[in-house]
Amino acid sequence: MEKSNEVFAVSERLVIRQFGIHDVQPFYQYRSNPEASRFQSWENYTLEDAEAFVSKQMATSPNQPGTWFQYAIALGTSDRLIGDCAIHTIGAEPRIVELGFTLAPEYQGKGYMHEALCALLDYVFGSLNKHKMIAFTDVRNTKSIQLLERLGMRLEGHLLENYMIKGHWVDEYQYAVLQSKWLKKRQ
Ligand SMILES: CC(C)(COP(=O)(O)OP(=O)(O)OC[C@H]1O[C@@H](n2cnc3c(N)ncnc32)[C@H](O)[C@@H]1OP(=O)(O)O)[C@@H](O)C(=O)NCCC(=O)NCCS
Repeated sequence: MEKSNEVFAVSERLVIRQFGIHDVQPFYQYRSNPEASRFQSWENYTLEDAEAFVSKQMATSPNQPGTWFQYAIALGTSDRLIGDCAIHTIGAEPRIVELGFTLAPEYQGKGYMHEALCALLDYVFGSLNKHKMIAFTDVRNTKSIQLLERLGMRLEGHLLENYMIKGHWVDEYQYAVLQSKWLKKRQ
């Protein structure tokens, strides 16, 4: 089996790595699933969209101010893609990053995203030495809210009609965690 080159972090069950061409099919399967996209901006996701997205991610490097980088989350035992997490390095203040994440529905409810994000936050605050991570979530997205709170992220605000999803303005919560708090928690 072809493995992708760059590994950014590992955890007990998972590998956080760069996307590879073998990820196109599983990525397409969960991105095109309405359950995974309910609170996300995209809809009617096609195989061509997935191919273009993965190709772009394979040619992109993380930690570039003003851009998003999508990290693949794969099972450590088989290298199978089960989801992704993304980091937006803010252009105006690259010491602050924004988080995004999606897990294939059949892998939810097993603690995989919590495990992946713990490894990602160790990497972001340890290897990348970032100051703060923020995350926005639709106020109706209870699974996402539970995950962010379980990570110890702090609710910083309720933003009214802050995001357009599928033709409707939705309210979002903004969560955040500081480097100092995360490193203390992980000691
Ligand atoms: C948000 C999302 C990633 C949450 O997935 P998840 O699997 O619930 O998240 P976690 O990894 O934290 O797993 C927690 C669940 O696993 C269970 N679990 C099982 N074993 C576990 C373990 N070893 N450790 C922790 N939790 C475990 C928990 O009890 C919990 O289950 P519950 O929801 O029934 O209470 C997922 O719903 C998703 O991808 N949604 C679509 C995309 C999306 O909306 N993204 C957010 C954009 S802001």
